Amino acid sequence: MALILSSTNNIFAQVFRSSFFFLLFFFVSSSPPGDPIKCSSKNTNCTITNSYGAFPDRSVCRAAEVAYPSTEEELISVVATATRSLRKMKVATRTSHSIPKLVCPDGQDGLLISTKYLNRTLKIDVEAMTMTVESGVTLRQIINEAAKAGLALVFAPYWWGLTIGGMLGTGAHGSTLWGKGSSVHDYVVELRIVSPGGREDGYVKVRTLDDGDRDFNAAKVSLGVLGVISQVTLKLQPLFKRSLTYLAKSDSDLGDEVASFGNEHEFADITWYPSQRKAVYRIDDRVSINMSGNGLYDFTPFRSTASLALAIIRTTEEFQESTSDVNGKCIGAKTVVSALVNSAYGLTNNGIAFLGYPVVGYHNRFQASGTCLDSLEDARVTACAWDPRVKGEFFHQTTFSIGLSMAKSFIQDVQKLNDLVPKAMCGIELYNGILMRYVKASSAYLGKQEDAVDFDITYYRSKDPTNPRLYEDILEEVEQLALFKYGALPHWGKNRNLAFEGVIKRYKNARKFLRVKDVYDPLGLFSSEWTNQILGLEEGVIVDKQGCALEGLCICSEDSHCAPSKGYYCRSGKVYKDARVCTRSTINVF
Ligand SMILES: *[C@@H]1O[C@H](CO)[C@@H](O)[C@H](O)[C@H]1NC(C)=O
Ligand SMILES: *[C@@H]1O[C@H](CO)[C@@H](O)[C@H](O)[C@H]1NC(C)=O
Ligand SMILES: *[C@@H]1O[C@H](CO)[C@@H](O)[C@H](O)[C@H]1NC(C)=O
Repeated sequence: MALILSSTNNIFAQVFRSSFFFLLFFFVSSSPPGDPIKCSSKNTNCTITNSYGAFPDRSVCRAAEVAYPSTEEELISVVATATRSLRKMKVATRTSHSIPKLVCPDGQDGLLISTKYLNRTLKIDVEAMTMTVESGVTLRQIINEAAKAGLALVFAPYWWGLTIGGMLGTGAHGSTLWGKGSSVHDYVVELRIVSPGGREDGYVKVRTLDDGDRDFNAAKVSLGVLGVISQVTLKLQPLFKRSLTYLAKSDSDLGDEVASFGNEHEFADITWYPSQRKAVYRIDDRVSINMSGNGLYDFTPFRSTASLALAIIRTTEEFQESTSDVNGKCIGAKTVVSALVNSAYGLTNNGIAFLGYPVVGYHNRFQASGTCLDSLEDARVTACAWDPRVKGEFFHQTTFSIGLSMAKSFIQDVQKLNDLVPKAMCGIELYNGILMRYVKASSAYLGKQEDAVDFDITYYRSKDPTNPRLYEDILEEVEQLALFKYGALPHWGKNRNLAFEGVIKRYKNARKFLRVKDVYDPLGLFSSEWTNQILGLEEGVIVDKQGCALEGLCICSEDSHCAPSKGYYCRSGKVYKDARVCTRSTINVF
């Protein structure tokens, strides 16, 4: 095993010495994530999962068959054939990063249409500054190919492994309050979508939509229910340079700062560590192309990690959970966060070493990363930290946006909660705290309804769904506070079931979206139980069963929804009294 200890050698030693192992800084080549689609015989009798290996309800999702079209013509023919036989269809991507069950076709006869081979760049128009790609093209490809032509997609998520079709389907975004905002779908100038048709159309209809079409606002964020997006044309800008400085500060005035900070810097975001009472501000702006610097942002948590290290980290975390080792988690959180902050989260001034701020470099080398996607070796050696083939991270992700005008009170409520239970949020800091990104109101019917701050929280999930988490109640309260007191919008591609209950009522153009859906796919072949539920057409987002609140399948209303045999009962929140959360009767804090 080629083990290359990086220049963060000291941090590594320090991390080990403090008997905490969340992020280990040895980097070797890794194995690419496995295929989320597995079939027992060639392309038939298949199961599909997400890249984390488990849906929120842990169900196994089946499909009778998977199709791998490699051209638009093949895609059209696949959709026509399936429509003629009234088969349920769902689009799947190569890596399947959406956490909820958007990818599952209903029933036993479903067809998966994978965009794995629809991964070509079709055209780059330097003059018009546009780029046309097939729907399975990844963010990484878009960034690289655009940069080769001297162009850039200005705003995008930070993780390379998403496809353009997936980003549009779920409303994925980066962070800005400037211009048209940070949602990828707001930079689409045209798209083509293949939907079921009637007999007179040969059972398939291909539509090209742009700003002149009313339906464009439905297709830009479609949850996959309108058909298969085959091509997307994106508006780009000339490639530019950025200058980035991370500034760590006390979080005491975070609520006051949050709105103005977002307006001050084009690529602003904030990483918040509530239990350490610290916030790290990303001061990140365009600079003159003449400014010297060839910085690179290879975000540490997205690098490949030795599988052995991942196993040690996970085992440590499981042990801390089972022994209620709150202090161990807090010490670990401090170690992890200071290692990340001191190593500038993976930023280097020249691609090799971090020498100090500001880090100046080309946008395409800053905007996203994910070197754990690169392949050379076996998953038993290295992997992405969440690769389900190895023992590694296993987590919930609660991600929601709160209107900019209310972000301050939400932050203050979380701070009050943190003051009452000061160690409760150490656990989320092991996953690098709360990432706060800016988003703007969008014309997309299922896009953001107002300018907002998106909060991204990652936290421990037990492999055993009946096992409560340490400070289960605190994160449940934060989740309910956001969703119900502040009317937050959950990210369509993340979250646990409860976040989607009644959410469609918060979209003022939901009815228009549903009308378009009825025109594009009147028989609902691209719809599933899950999409019907989140669109408010069917009951059942909430699953009422024993222990359902532990996995966010319900909000507890009785003790059996928690884990009374393990001492967790359904109680009111501490700051938000309307919250109903699974609280441990006596916490052994030592
Ligand atoms: C489908 O796969 C399952 C296992 O995943 C197997 O038990 C079953 O026999 C297979 N069915 C067919 C028709 O091949
Ligand atoms: C498209 O994907 C296939 C399968 O993963 C891969 O072999 C091929 O190199 C990709 N093409 C491009 C242009 O990236
Ligand atoms: C970069 O430098 C050149 C030559 O010194 C100058 O002509 C140009 O205006 C500069 N560009 C910017 C954006 O400052």
